[in-house]
Amino acid sequence: MADNCILITGAAGFIGSHCVVALAEAGYNVIAMENSKSTNNLAFQQINKILGWEVKTCRCDLLNYEEIVKIFERYKITTVIHLAAMKGVSESMNYPIECYRKNLVSTLNLLEVMRLYGVKNLIFSSSCAIYGNQVQMPVAETALPHSISNVYGKSKLFIEKILSDLSRSDKEFKITILRYFNPVGAHSSGLIGEDPKRKQISFLTLLGKAALDKEMNLSLFGSSNIRDFVHVMDVGEAHVAAVSNLESGDSFKVFNIGSGIGISLLQLIKIFEHVNCVKISYTIKDRQESEIEAIIADTTLAETDLGWKSRKTVEEMCTDCWKWMTYNAINF
Ligand SMILES: NC(=O)c1ccc[n+]([C@@H]2O[C@H](COP(=O)([O-])OP(=O)(O)OC[C@H]3O[C@@H](n4cnc5c(N)ncnc54)[C@H](O)[C@@H]3O)[C@@H](O)[C@H]2O)c1
Repeated sequence: MADNCILITGAAGFIGSHCVVALAEAGYNVIAMENSKSTNNLAFQQINKILGWEVKTCRCDLLNYEEIVKIFERYKITTVIHLAAMKGVSESMNYPIECYRKNLVSTLNLLEVMRLYGVKNLIFSSSCAIYGNQVQMPVAETALPHSISNVYGKSKLFIEKILSDLSRSDKEFKITILRYFNPVGAHSSGLIGEDPKRKQISFLTLLGKAALDKEMNLSLFGSSNIRDFVHVMDVGEAHVAAVSNLESGDSFKVFNIGSGIGISLLQLIKIFEHVNCVKISYTIKDRQESEIEAIIADTTLAETDLGWKSRKTVEEMCTDCWKWMTYNAINF
């Protein structure tokens, strides 16, 4: 039985792959978990290239309780970083049952197995989507959710509530919730990044697609919408900070993970074009009603309690994303 492992669910995904690299490089013994479809994902081969050794991987669908039990039987897991989820906002609106099942049932299965095996350290991937539409900017962790317009955001909020109830009922559970704002970019090697073939991709990856495909004209809804973009490797580092902080302070903690800087979608296009010397064809359209005008993180708490602050610039987000897109264009 391998000792003191950190289990990372959704490890071949966009954020998961960068977390695996950050934690493995920080010296943690990582088990990268994925469901059956993605176990042989290119991401794991690329992660191994970055690390220079083979990361441990396992196949498991979190909707299958017995499969999770097998993983906990096999490894001595001490901490779980739970990223696996269905994250498509529009998909969540069209398929609410599937979204709730994929996000809630898989989390409940995981929590039950964790309790069964006495594994009580958890870091959970939440989202700024749980804030809904806020007036006060930047948004602090204490802000009350307001008018959450999509099923995905609601599913994350429900899980947060479940975790809060769990920590209240069992004081041995140490739970940290990380509310990511807009993770973008890629590893600076260009070896891992966000798969542009997925249904739901970040705005920056969409820009990369538009820059690669000269025929593509981007419909830019809400060009003045303000977002808080944060480099995905900074997000990975936030997990390293959260793991080392799990044992200290409160047993239930929530942190915003963003850059604390708001920039508009149009500004991001201009920066992307400038730093990468490319042209993107786009047409400005009206903001869609369901879209939030602005969301910016107050990151004070992460800075003071976790000792974490995003370090990479928006220019680095754009160059790293473009490097990933151009190096791997043949696979897309
Ligand atoms: N990317 C963002 O902008 C963003 C923002 C806020 C929060 N988040 C959250 O961060 C987490 C990771 O997001 P991402 O962008 O890396 O998503 P992603 O889709 O790239 O990765 C998610 C991974 O989870 C795996 N997965 C899904 N269901 C599973 C299951 N039942 N069992 C095992 N594996 C399963 C998928 O195969 C996928 O590889 C998600 O929880 C997401 O909601 C993402």
